[in-house]
Amino acid sequence: MGSDVVKELFNLGRPPLLAAPMAGITDDAYRRIIASTGVDLTFTQMVSAEGLSRGTRKSMAMLEEGRGLSPWAVQLFGGRPQTMAKAAALAEDAGYQLVDINMGCPVPKVYKKGAGAALLEDVDRAFAVAQAVVSATSLPVSAKLRLGPTVDNATAFAIVPGLRELGFAFITVHARYSDQGYYQPADWEMLSALKRHLGDFRIVGNGDVLAPEDGSRMLAETGVDGIMVGRGMLGNPWIFSALRTELSGAGELPRPTPRQRVELIRKHLRLMVDVAGERVAIRDFRKHLVWYLRAFPGAASLRERAVKVKKVGEVEEILEEYVAKAEDGGED
Ligand SMILES: Cc1cc2nc3c(=O)[nH]c(=O)nc-3n(C[C@H](O)[C@H](O)[C@H](O)COP(=O)(O)O)c2cc1C
Repeated sequence: MGSDVVKELFNLGRPPLLAAPMAGITDDAYRRIIASTGVDLTFTQMVSAEGLSRGTRKSMAMLEEGRGLSPWAVQLFGGRPQTMAKAAALAEDAGYQLVDINMGCPVPKVYKKGAGAALLEDVDRAFAVAQAVVSATSLPVSAKLRLGPTVDNATAFAIVPGLRELGFAFITVHARYSDQGYYQPADWEMLSALKRHLGDFRIVGNGDVLAPEDGSRMLAETGVDGIMVGRGMLGNPWIFSALRTELSGAGELPRPTPRQRVELIRKHLRLMVDVAGERVAIRDFRKHLVWYLRAFPGAASLRERAVKVKKVGEVEEILEEYVAKAEDGGED
């Protein structure tokens, strides 16, 4: 059953659009928001396999995020094959349709456990984890990795062919090295070389698709089979509908009106409040609000207020002022 989900994903008549798993961002609410703006596949934030195998409240709650979305995909991180196997089996029991393995996160708390980007340095361990997950579940399995630990060590060229042999459904390549963080330019030339190296094995490209035209450029320059957007969706869930139009070559990109934007932003906040209650939701929503306002010209003073909001009512006031300013065409 599960593999049909992947077949469908790559048979849309255009490359699929994926939202990058992002800790602290692709939670239940934001995934529902982007599901309504044209994304084809979203993942949970990375979920700790150790946390799941111990049944911690935080990990078990994350596993519930996005229930009802289709395809429903989880991203797991862990460095121990047996723990990852157990977590994958739990995900299958929970009803998931796809399991993704994080092989690229350089954050110390992940890396120190032999997980995430540590797997790019320890290719044998990467294969052991991959093999254990594939054996533990009948679901399709994917992985998301960087090009390698450092520029002179592009281990993705060894790892991805091995994952293909293990029957992985597809691989997402974030076209940076582990020591590059997020702000060096992504290396699309290496992404293109890796895609050529892999022939017709499905590769999803990730890194620096920040605007719709970057999507067509990435496809033309690298030949990847799908596109994953990370930072480009912050404050801009509409990027997925714009990318759809861009890739179809159907002319004018959609431009939601200020009022339409604000409606979606309100919905985002409502979903967060439903899950976490006003106090916690507002704390977590502030960053989104700042991103939303960044995308709007002339909203500098509103952004200053946005970082301090404590109540839904204050957000409402900011949004109403935004609409008034934007409809006026006013700048700060
Ligand atoms: C705040 C933040 C959180 C992230 N969390 C994850 C994560 O949980 N799992 C993962 O595989 N990558 C994670 N990433 C990496 C992104 O998925 C993506 O690979 C990266 O941002 C590059 O894509 P972009 O250039 O489109 O932003 C994160 C990145 C950021 C900035």
